[in-house]
Amino acid sequence: MYPPHTGRLSYGGDYSPEQWPAEVWREDVALMRDAGVTMVTVGVFSWAWLEPAPGEYEFGWLDEVMDLLASGGIAVDLATATASPPPWFSRAHPETLPVDRDGRVLTYGSRQAYCPSSPVYREAAVTLARRLAERYREHPALAMWHVNNEYGCHVTRCYCDTSAAAFREWLRDRYKDIEELNAAWGTAFWSQRYTEWAQVLPPRATPSFANPAQELDFHRFSSDALLALYTAERDVLRELTPDVPVTTNFMAGMLDEVDYWRWASEVDVVSTDHYLSANNPDNWLGLAYSADLTRSLAGGEWLLMEHSTGAVNWQPRNAPKQRDEMIRNSLSHVARGSQGAMFFQWRASRAGAEKWHSAMVPHAGTDSVIWRDVVRLGGYLDRLSPVLGSAVEAPVAILHDYHSTWAEAHAAQPSDDMVPPAEIARWHAALVRLGITADFAHPDATLDRYRAVLVPSLYLIGDAAAANLAAYAAGGGTVLIGPFSGIVDEQDRVRLGGYPGAFRDLLGVRVDEFFPLLKDETVALDNGATGQVWSERARAAGATVVASYAAGPLAGAPALTRNGNAWYLGTRLIDGDLRELLGSVLAEAGVSAPVADPPPGLEVVRRTGFLFLINHAPQAADVPVAGTDLLTGDRHARARVPGGGVLVLRLDV
Ligand code: GLA
Repeated sequence: MYPPHTGRLSYGGDYSPEQWPAEVWREDVALMRDAGVTMVTVGVFSWAWLEPAPGEYEFGWLDEVMDLLASGGIAVDLATATASPPPWFSRAHPETLPVDRDGRVLTYGSRQAYCPSSPVYREAAVTLARRLAERYREHPALAMWHVNNEYGCHVTRCYCDTSAAAFREWLRDRYKDIEELNAAWGTAFWSQRYTEWAQVLPPRATPSFANPAQELDFHRFSSDALLALYTAERDVLRELTPDVPVTTNFMAGMLDEVDYWRWASEVDVVSTDHYLSANNPDNWLGLAYSADLTRSLAGGEWLLMEHSTGAVNWQPRNAPKQRDEMIRNSLSHVARGSQGAMFFQWRASRAGAEKWHSAMVPHAGTDSVIWRDVVRLGGYLDRLSPVLGSAVEAPVAILHDYHSTWAEAHAAQPSDDMVPPAEIARWHAALVRLGITADFAHPDATLDRYRAVLVPSLYLIGDAAAANLAAYAAGGGTVLIGPFSGIVDEQDRVRLGGYPGAFRDLLGVRVDEFFPLLKDETVALDNGATGQVWSERARAAGATVVASYAAGPLAGAPALTRNGNAWYLGTRLIDGDLRELLGSVLAEAGVSAPVADPPPGLEVVRRTGFLFLINHAPQAADVPVAGTDLLTGDRHARARVPGGGVLVLRLDV
């Protein structure tokens, strides 16, 4: 746990004092105290105010803000301000501007206009981080460093000449010999053979499909290039302030373009941002996905760095949150392991592209529903302190690997409808509706502590990871694998001899041809279930057939099999049938939900000694559990959660 929060959940948001006159800063601190704010993130986009001209620094305003916050007892998560270089920088160094796949240079004037591989940008960013650390290393308000902002948002991959050279360096390091690269990329195809490193480029716009392995490696390189930027700043901060934790805010569950499994071990605090898809009554399931993924990346405690009090400004129709939805969202993140609830942003901007984004202090000021809810939430978080340190109980793991997602995203695949993150989220959502909390796990991770491991969609898997899963099953763990998994090796080369190559022996199944379904086409199974999106011609090679296709070209062929405790599903079941299958496989594996068959819309998360009951439905939910609600102090012999309400029960022992 990080220093300012001993005993308290974090509460606050991004704070941009440079957008306001100094009188407002005083009011801000007073209001923060009224709301129970514990920490704010300062300076995320302040570069132009901290360094208005090359090498000329103006720290006076930030000194005053830091002092004011310290005197108000508000901790500061101090940003290194490197997310957006100022116009003077981009004009002086136009070669640092990012270039897209089509060769367009993206100019300054919005934000984050830099090439991740630019040594000039990197040096400027590291210098600014150093100056900030030198200035504020002893400041009592400094609680945490917030490096840059949402790396990879807006510019994930840059295709400029600087990036091309850096990509070649990365490839040389990986393959050493150009012939190794040719073998790994399968360049015998379409006359793509490279005879010199200088010929190798990022996958820029081409007449037809790019080489899939080249695209995959460019994804890997680009994630690493961003990570190297982060670690360059972090190393300076660690050198100057070894006791101050360092974070950078992820977009777990919203951005799949960087490999957060690699990033997570480089930060002291895993933090993430999450925004709902407005106008979607089931958006709480997406929130649960992001929160569970972040907890899994962190291996436990993490921090919700940003979410919104109300509408955002970047969706086609920016709906406000419904009554108490902000409270439910915040507490759902806390239920799933967040050490607090932070927002973008503290005070709604008057001008600029985000002036219609909600905030803790809305344009209307304190005479507003949002402000009253912000104050109420501050009180709730204070009362939830006892949950700090309790562990989220997750008996199931879902395998998750960004590299597999990147590989499967290539444009020339058997079906465009096979979208791994969406399918992984669908399986996760089925568990949430069953009241079962799951972790996500990287395929290389130790899996022993789980009663079951689910593999909804894992197209690419290396030999070691496949052996890891097989060993888990051999040790008695239950495994359920979905279709089009275990298909290629780490270089996207097909595993020959029958699909799903990496899992054929584990599953006792052999597939010789894929039969993707048309849009909206379904296929009946003989157990009454319905498949969609995908089917394939499989035969049992050791496995027991549990269900077969009942109609169509594959009538009579296996659709669901089991080989002892290793299950295989060769199609994508519709939601209700998927939920039923997961429920029965997990019940057999000894997994039970803390509340059996929760009513629709009731989110149930158990932490050691506590039960979070978050009711996303309009009608009350009755739950046969006894405990004392931390939010109200009321004791419940049998819990009743009002429509839209939340109970956090300290369970009777
Ligand atoms: C991201 C950014 C913030 C802000 C919000 C708006 O999370 O980090 O600066 O732009 O989106 O939703």
